Amino acid sequence: MNYRHSFHAGNFADVHKHVVLLALLERLTRKPKPIFYLDTHAGRGRYDLAGADAARGAEWREGVGRLLEASPDDVEVARYCERLLATHGRAAGLRTYAGSPLLALASLRPADRAVFVERQRSEASALQVALPGRRNTTVLCSDGYAALKAYLPPAENRGLVLIDPPYESPHEFSMAEQALRLGLDRWPSGQFALWYPIKAGPEAQRLLASLRNSGLRKLLTLELATRPADSPVGLNGSGLLIANPPWQFDVHMRPALAALHRILSPDGAGGVRIDWLAEE
Ligand SMILES: C[S@@+](CC[C@H](N)C(=O)[O-])C[C@H]1O[C@@H](n2cnc3c(N)ncnc32)[C@H](O)[C@@H]1O
Repeated sequence: MNYRHSFHAGNFADVHKHVVLLALLERLTRKPKPIFYLDTHAGRGRYDLAGADAARGAEWREGVGRLLEASPDDVEVARYCERLLATHGRAAGLRTYAGSPLLALASLRPADRAVFVERQRSEASALQVALPGRRNTTVLCSDGYAALKAYLPPAENRGLVLIDPPYESPHEFSMAEQALRLGLDRWPSGQFALWYPIKAGPEAQRLLASLRNSGLRKLLTLELATRPADSPVGLNGSGLLIANPPWQFDVHMRPALAALHRILSPDGAGGVRIDWLAEE
């Protein structure tokens, strides 16, 4: 496997994914009962924005770089900016980008349990170092898909699973779909967030069509594109499929995604799409 998230850390897709992630966790932690959080493709936790990988495409400049310059006032987006800056101290400026594990931990309370799974040894070791010492936190160097079987359903019975694969192999769309189905089969009331890339090819539409016809209920998609859907090269948009979203999540996230689009796509290309694949 060659995938290195350090090329992409902090790009518009990371921003979109992490804003939604924090919005989900904020709602889950409103009730005092502890929750369970599983990140099946956790990455290394912290990414050096001045390093060679990040510098190559400088994707973060058009993502988190733009966002922090804009000081957005939407409540969901502002929460993300605040958490991001808090993960490495405001005074430092943005030299590193916090990945999903660090951002999620900043939302969890001491009694909440978190499991982070990362298959590449170097990334898993870096994650172990990046995470603050905390009880109820496990890092596994292992296969995230297998972890769904091992950890679901959790004793807490409330919580969230983030499935964020690299989509390097042509089979990853169907693996991700199977993972979601298996996860929901084992834990029907759990919340799941599955990230998918939107490119010129038909893969994302096929995934969504298959899930639309799956018989699963309560599936919401939140998409943010910064380029026209048919742009031939690269990532045009970022998609998140949420299973069992919180009450009125579609309504609450619309202004947040609109604010993100205004900032991350200054020429207005692409757009926002929020759709129920399947309601109640
Ligand atoms: C898109 S990155 C994760 C980014 C991270 N979730 C974040 O938002 O900061 C995908 C990660 O999955 C890892 N990976 C690839 N296949 C995996 C598997 N089967 N199980 C667990 N991790 C895997 C890659 O090494 C990579 O670090």
